[in-house]
Amino acid sequence: FAAVDVIRAKRDGARLRDEQIDWVVDAFTRGVVADEQMAALAMAILLRGMDAAETARWTGAMIDSGERLSLRCSRPTVDKHSTGGVGDKITLPLAPLVAACGAAVPQLSGRGLGHTGGTLDKLEAVPGWRAELSTDEIAAQLESVGAVVCAATPSLAPADRKLYALRDVTGTVESVPLIASSIMSKKIAEGADGLVLDVKTGSGAFMKTREQARALATALTEIGAAHGLATTAVLTGMDTPLGAAVGNAVEVAEAVEVLRGGGPADVVALTVALAREMLALAGLPEVDPARVLASGAAYETWCRMIRAQGGDPEAELPRPAHVHVEPAPESGVLTRLDAYGVGVAAWRLGAGRARKDDPVQLAAGVRCLAKPGDTLERGEPLFALHTDTPEAVAAVLPTLREACTIGDAHGNAPGAGEAAE
Ligand code: URA
Repeated sequence: FAAVDVIRAKRDGARLRDEQIDWVVDAFTRGVVADEQMAALAMAILLRGMDAAETARWTGAMIDSGERLSLRCSRPTVDKHSTGGVGDKITLPLAPLVAACGAAVPQLSGRGLGHTGGTLDKLEAVPGWRAELSTDEIAAQLESVGAVVCAATPSLAPADRKLYALRDVTGTVESVPLIASSIMSKKIAEGADGLVLDVKTGSGAFMKTREQARALATALTEIGAAHGLATTAVLTGMDTPLGAAVGNAVEVAEAVEVLRGGGPADVVALTVALAREMLALAGLPEVDPARVLASGAAYETWCRMIRAQGGDPEAELPRPAHVHVEPAPESGVLTRLDAYGVGVAAWRLGAGRARKDDPVQLAAGVRCLAKPGDTLERGEPLFALHTDTPEAVAAVLPTLREACTIGDAHGNAPGAGEAAE
């Protein structure tokens, strides 16, 4: 094969043949196909698309670029993937909850980039907690605790790591077949028995419209079906942040509230709804996750999960050097609280990173003290801004002011999770 022929074929709108796909992905991973050739092919795919069979084959080739983890476990294994949002800390209460219900959850996660947070960055706010585990450690913890949230091992779909870095700088991230194959290659290589996908839609999500989100959900479940992985997708709203906390330590604190029987209603509702989907895939539809959550068993599993990775679940979480409370500028009903704006503000306060290897501030973030539908008096606290770099506060206040609308009428902004279907 010659890379240029594969590029020309897709450029001109042809279907790629199985042998072409297998060859080009393998040769790219080995450095035989150059970055500029793969970038050109990614652009041709973005413009011309790939059908379901091509996308499934592409995913298989990416899986075959690395190792499959065979996490044998005495319980059924089931994982969850969210396409990313603002304040989306659901993995934190969900993994121990589903484990406490009798399934095993191997959740290989990532770090945040841009306005969406990463689960590993959040958990690293817990003193002592360690993200990097060996495959043997993952397997042992899965058996003993039933839940592992850790970094993906480097041997998992290395073609995807290389391709994603290239797409990131060549304007080729936003292709449904490339996004779907990227997500599913890692999840299939992980080897769980079932997968629940939480596909976010709205201002704070990757997919801004329900149509786009539905197309991604379809592509993801088709790949699951082609590779024999039982996959369910739910579409949930991301126009407004999930819960009140957006950041790292602040989100861990909110997840712990949920695990202890409290926490914001939208976070509890989505955690329980996704747990039900996961238990159905794990063959445990009769277990009621709401009761297990209320019993305290999920909190106990959380403590064991954190301790197994060197963390101290009782330790105080990092505190910011500076907290600024921003009052409501006028009286009225909060009709809009925009997820993207709040996500950007938390990121600029230090909770997120601009480049892949930048450090994050563990204590930075935003706490939203009102949610859409709440009535506010002028001067009442609206946001609490946490940061170690107080000069960032003035820079983010205009973004936060623009992210909310205070009006007379009740808004109908759906809480994230209520739109699950
Ligand atoms: N997340 C991924 O893992 N891959 C993509 O391409 C986009 C989002």
